Amino acid sequence: MNLAKELKHPIFKTITKAADQLGVETYVIGGFVRDLILERQEPKDIDFVCVGSGIKLAEKVAELMPEKTKVQVFKNFGTAMIKLQDLELEFVGARKESYRADSRKPIVENGTLRDDQNRRDFTINAMAIQINKEQYGNLLDPFRGMEDLQNTTIRTPQEPNITFSDDPLRMMRAVRFATQLEFFIEENSLQAIKDNAERLNIISQERITVELNKIILANKPSKGFKLLLNTKLLHQFFPKMVDLYGVEVINNKRHKDNFYHTLEVLDNICENTEDLWLRWSAILHDIAKPDTKRFEKKQGWTFHGHEFLGSKMVPIIFRKLKLPLNEKMKYVQKLVKLHLRPIVLSQEIVTDSALRRLLFDAGEDIDDLMTLFEADITSKNPEKVKRYLKNFQLVRQKLKDVEERDQIRNMQPPISGEEIMHIFQLKPCKIIGDLKTAIKDAILDGEIKNDRQEAYQYLLKKAAEMQLTPLNQLQ
Ligand code: CTP
Repeated sequence: MNLAKELKHPIFKTITKAADQLGVETYVIGGFVRDLILERQEPKDIDFVCVGSGIKLAEKVAELMPEKTKVQVFKNFGTAMIKLQDLELEFVGARKESYRADSRKPIVENGTLRDDQNRRDFTINAMAIQINKEQYGNLLDPFRGMEDLQNTTIRTPQEPNITFSDDPLRMMRAVRFATQLEFFIEENSLQAIKDNAERLNIISQERITVELNKIILANKPSKGFKLLLNTKLLHQFFPKMVDLYGVEVINNKRHKDNFYHTLEVLDNICENTEDLWLRWSAILHDIAKPDTKRFEKKQGWTFHGHEFLGSKMVPIIFRKLKLPLNEKMKYVQKLVKLHLRPIVLSQEIVTDSALRRLLFDAGEDIDDLMTLFEADITSKNPEKVKRYLKNFQLVRQKLKDVEERDQIRNMQPPISGEEIMHIFQLKPCKIIGDLKTAIKDAILDGEIKNDRQEAYQYLLKKAAEMQLTPLNQLQ
């Protein structure tokens, strides 16, 4: 098969020239070839392999570029990189690798193209297209990656136990590609993942989490999580999520399987957001259910306080998974903590006061909280789902009305603590906090408007009740 016509990027002409001037066999390989055939997204990086020195090839390519071009050389790895505006080009010499049992660091020797293809993770990532002029566009596909692409199959080029124990991260990559591409993992490869799952423990958490986040960013991440559970990869790095799995029955009463429920919520939310952290909040919204589960004679199964405990677990989980411990984590924490609040609003007669309180607590993240809440409606009864969602439209409208009227979302205290101290000539003390809270509550309960003058009058009234006399006026 010849794919010359598909190699549209002008950079290929320059590489052909460089390769032929040096007289080295050169190929484009890996993800670029796979995505080219799948007509997937525009490439961000292109990997070239040559039977010779990748560094020399990169230097030659730079020399032939019309403008001055920098080559980044990684001597230890024998690789080189050229950054173009929209693209990174990686150059490496073909290698043969062998691994020791206790390390991911391979013993590397120079090899043929075939050796290099053989050491790659999956047949669909091991296809190469020749770039030299005489053979330009020829596809070299010794492991029938093309067939696997057509049959939507993830398969290792070598015996899968070898491929996975050489580099256990590939087990995560198998699940990631199966999820992103909506492929299935061929039976022997899947069995080998199950057999080698524990070997994942020699891989750094950072690298595991890179793959995990790619799974979460796929269109339907549930597929990936089911594979992670069934292969027991998930058990290696995220046992708290495994704990969600399973159903208990007491007195003929069963609770829902919170693992599958979580996945449904996650898939639902993926239809409405591409945001990784909102997707993470769907994964973690019920994470404390196993720890708060009780069976009570009257009510049956309860999970009281799971939203509060869950929000406390978020930093622990983020730390363990090496996710960032910054405002993204705080955002996920907040959504987990508040995820039940809109349910109350959609069931009862909603008071403006309840709406204001929710707006105040959620602040800027109110829309995301609503998106999470909608995704959380997963009843098997479609009528019930419809009714909930309809009710919920109403709540959204009411929230909008209240927001327009009272502007609660980013409410700043209309009178500051310093001003209260000045008016009553007080030093910092608890009374100031109490007065500030009283004003905030009065606004949220609708007693007074979110307005400085009204707040001042209210402050004077409250202070009088506490026998405080104003010594200065509000400026
Ligand atoms: N590779 C491998 N084993 C790994 C990582 C990578 O064999 N653990 C090989 C594969 O041939 C892969 C290529 O190196 O195609 C490039 O790796 P990478 O850039 O990580 O992945 P891509 O396949 O390009 O896919 P994506 O860009 O979606 O990550």
